[in-house]
Amino acid sequence: MKNDLLPSANQKEVQKESEGCLKKYRYRILLFLIVLGLFGVYYNYLENMNELEKMFEDFVHVYEKRYRSQQEKDHRFSIFMRNVRKHEEDEKRHNGINLGVTQFSDRTDDELKSLLVPISSSNGITQSYSLETQGKTSSTDHPAHFDWRERNHVTPIKDQGYCGSCWAFSTVATVESLNSIKRGKLISLSEQEILDCNPKYYGCSGGTTASAMEFVREIGLCTEEEYKYRAADSEKCLRTKNLTRISIDAYIFLPKNETFVANWIAKNGPVTFAMTTTRPLLFYRSGIYHPSSEDCADKSLGSHAMAIVGYGSEKGKDYWIVKNSWGKNWGENGYLRLIRGKQVCSMMDRVVAPVIN
Ligand SMILES: *[C@@H]1O[C@H](CO)[C@@H](O)[C@H](O)[C@H]1NC(C)=O
Ligand SMILES: *[C@@H]1O[C@H](CO)[C@@H](O)[C@H](O)[C@H]1NC(C)=O
Repeated sequence: MKNDLLPSANQKEVQKESEGCLKKYRYRILLFLIVLGLFGVYYNYLENMNELEKMFEDFVHVYEKRYRSQQEKDHRFSIFMRNVRKHEEDEKRHNGINLGVTQFSDRTDDELKSLLVPISSSNGITQSYSLETQGKTSSTDHPAHFDWRERNHVTPIKDQGYCGSCWAFSTVATVESLNSIKRGKLISLSEQEILDCNPKYYGCSGGTTASAMEFVREIGLCTEEEYKYRAADSEKCLRTKNLTRISIDAYIFLPKNETFVANWIAKNGPVTFAMTTTRPLLFYRSGIYHPSSEDCADKSLGSHAMAIVGYGSEKGKDYWIVKNSWGKNWGENGYLRLIRGKQVCSMMDRVVAPVIN
């Protein structure tokens, strides 16, 4: 009985052998699959590299990048790959935005810091105007959608280049718009004059919007045409005596209240604000940007100032229409739509508005 149930020694041998035989085949099949797999991975890698190389060549062409040597180009390509590979992961964390190649794609974080301004406080800057002065308390009756671009009170998008001058650009953007709203002339004004002509300011190494507003109030601005932007600090002020003077009467810090600010914009005109620079912002292509508190907490890239020229809503999400100074190729034709009503990245902490009586 037992013998019938248990395999005999002989049967065991046969089994072993056939197993051994199968094992041999298994190894071969496995080896074949591994080779195939490796080849697939390698092929994918090559295809991926080809795609990245093509993207990089397009990037070099579109942004007119000039590298001094092949070595530098290779180095820039490796940074480019690192940046591009992060987009997918970042997009997953930020529902509804598209990231992609921008002029910053071949730059390291350290290099990008020179473009942004260090986080600073507005301590010591006194505003020249108060809300009470004109009884400008806002009501909540502002329209649901408002855009100063539709009324032709916004100048074309500018490009600050690799100079930490966002504080001058955002201020000038609001002054240009207010000048147009109040005086009926849309004129592009000079950022370089602010950078060069007052020794109190820090030029390309950063400044504050309030200090730029103070300059415009005290001294005024000439036109962009008269004093062109150089994306660099000049040794001295190159202003001549007979230039245009466009000034403001005052500037004001608005309360940290997004309803109030929306109201102010619809009634009076664009405002400046500053926010923590998040990595995805640098590679923003489209969508409503809603940085996480984790992104905002990373202060390593410093702060960035921009101008708000309107607001709206899409699919239940409220947003600000933000004019940036990173050229027309960045974002939505140079603009950012930023989530409204969440006070992201301390964006309401330093909202400054110019005033023309
Ligand atoms: C924000 O501003 C609106 C409009 O002026 C006002 O109705 C509301 O009470 C303010 N909210 C806070 C918390 O102050
Ligand atoms: C302003 O003055 C400069 C030199 O002082 C002169 O070259 C220029 O033509 C003047 N511009 C105007 C608009 O008068």
